[in-house]
Amino acid sequence: MNKIKVMTVFGTRPEGIKMAPIIKVMESRPEIENTICITAQHREMLDQVLDLFKIEPDYDLNIFKPGQSLTEITMRALEGLERVIREVKPHILLVQGDTSTVFAGALAAFYQKVKVGHVEAGLRSGNLYSPYPEEANRKLTGVLAHFHFAPTEINRLNLLKEGYPEERIFITGNTVIDALKFAVKKDYKFHLPLLNDIDYKNKRIILVTSHRRENIGKPMENIFSAINNIALKYDDVEVVFPIHLNPKVREIAYRVFKGNDKVHLIEPLDYEPFTNLMAKSHLVVTDSGGLQEEAPSLGKPVLVVREETERPEGIEAGTAKLVGTEYDNIFKEIDILLSNQEEYSKMANAVNPYGDGKASERIVDIIIKHIGPNE
Ligand code: UD1
Ligand code: UDP
Repeated sequence: MNKIKVMTVFGTRPEGIKMAPIIKVMESRPEIENTICITAQHREMLDQVLDLFKIEPDYDLNIFKPGQSLTEITMRALEGLERVIREVKPHILLVQGDTSTVFAGALAAFYQKVKVGHVEAGLRSGNLYSPYPEEANRKLTGVLAHFHFAPTEINRLNLLKEGYPEERIFITGNTVIDALKFAVKKDYKFHLPLLNDIDYKNKRIILVTSHRRENIGKPMENIFSAINNIALKYDDVEVVFPIHLNPKVREIAYRVFKGNDKVHLIEPLDYEPFTNLMAKSHLVVTDSGGLQEEAPSLGKPVLVVREETERPEGIEAGTAKLVGTEYDNIFKEIDILLSNQEEYSKMANAVNPYGDGKASERIVDIIIKHIGPNE
């Protein structure tokens, strides 16, 4: 049987997490031969994901450099990918999300006239500079894509509004929910003693992550200051913040949280302990994209410290709230959730606007149905 040649390209932690379940499904399908190429735009943070999901890339472009600029990432990925695509000659190249690796992957495929499948297509904040550069990356990738795998109906409508043909858009759910189902376990034991020692029964844990480029500077100082003062206000509140490896983020975090022993600043966690920590947390404060999808599924209220979001589904479902990046509002909104049980209960509902855990199977089925091995 002539197999369908798929080439899967990813480079950062969230792409790895969301691509992993698709790779696993493809491994079980005899119709498909998948070649995995990582750009390694992230190094340690991506390697953690590869280990967990036992993924061994066929190609590793190893483009990571500390302090890398957007131009450097894009150029190095584009150059490396051209070589690999010429060698592999895939029928379809899959990218996931909105990073610079995604845009470079789609462009490299287009230059070789290889069809692009865009996983997590159609998310739009409406502001080209927020998130920056992700909103542009996803729009640019959309232009180059042949198949648009839209997680939700809202995403599909965004694509239709931009004039993409209906027959190329498929609602699949988000593969992050597939990954989450794999990772979250009952009675999970952490390897990190600090996380095992937390008294989850008597303490309320606020799980924090922040890394968006447009928040670096004053907005991030506001976010961290508000969280810092909340931790000081409530005796039974502790904060756990696995800090992104970006040194700019780390500098602000270490400075603002200095001397506050209610705030645990730790290294980025592997996906499994991270999601199990989320499952034990009281609430989540984040500017991450992925966390906005995971927290509702786990019934955790999530305060989104950004000015806009491309993920309105969680907000409509009532589990997420957009709180901006001004100190006063962030402090106020966390304060309400900690002091008003009714408000907290309204938000702490497990809902799944982002998928049912079967997105990867749908995506692979669509590829098999629509791409012939002789393309
Ligand atoms: C990137 C993506 C962003 C995504 C995020 C997920 C782009 C432009 N941005 O942002 O969309 O939400 O990943 O986390 O594609 N670093 C390390 N080791 C690592 C990873 C990062 O040291 O394994 C440090 C480096 O100093 C690096 C910096 O973090 O320069 C920023 O990494 P980069 O990939 O440029 O951007 P992110 O902010 O991680
Ligand atoms: N995550 C992780 N370890 C951490 C923090 C986050 O595994 O210490 C996971 C999280 O569960 C989610 C993804 O990383 O699936 C989100 O990545 P990030 O916030 O870096 O990027 P974004 O989703 O904003 O693009």
